[in-house]
Amino acid sequence: MVKKNACIFISGFGSNLKSLIRSSRDPVFPIKINLVITNNPNAQGILHAKKYSIPFLIINTRRRDYENIILREINKNKISIICLAGYMKIISKRFIFNAKKKILNIHPSLLPKYKGLNTFEKVVKNKEKKTGCTVHYVNEKLDGGKIINQKSFYINKEDNINVIKEKTQKLEYKAFPEAIVKIFRYI
Ligand code: GRF
Repeated sequence: MVKKNACIFISGFGSNLKSLIRSSRDPVFPIKINLVITNNPNAQGILHAKKYSIPFLIINTRRRDYENIILREINKNKISIICLAGYMKIISKRFIFNAKKKILNIHPSLLPKYKGLNTFEKVVKNKEKKTGCTVHYVNEKLDGGKIINQKSFYINKEDNINVIKEKTQKLEYKAFPEAIVKIFRYI
């Protein structure tokens, strides 16, 4: 099978990057990861890229033209799909339009509930019985694109924010690879 080239954007820990790298090592998984991009020179996730010898790029987002630099790299590496895995920058409308790629994001709530930041705090505050994660296409609305995959769990009374985060992230490591398989199955 011919795998599609993927680029993963990260800003922090990179545990989703790690799960995607693991999945991509399976010969029948539809993508290979050619590039990792981060806006954070201290992102721990860079270590996963290093470990698996995946080229990575630290981008200075203070430069006005930083999205153009990313676009050039995306095109140079013949990237077909961009996965936002804990990337803490908003992608501009212009980037989405010019990239003309599939752009996916993983979000730690059952969208459309709790878009944006501090999702676990919001879940606890609203005494939700159930939460989970969502993989969706990225469009110009924050966490508003078409949903590809969701996974959920019931919250126990004793679950605090940390436990909820842990349970959510465990589901994320399944949800993102599944979403990628799903979108390439139908083309
Ligand atoms: C994940 O919980 C994801 O849903 C959110 O940011 C977090 C990234 O974690 N968008 P990691 O860097 O993949 O460990």
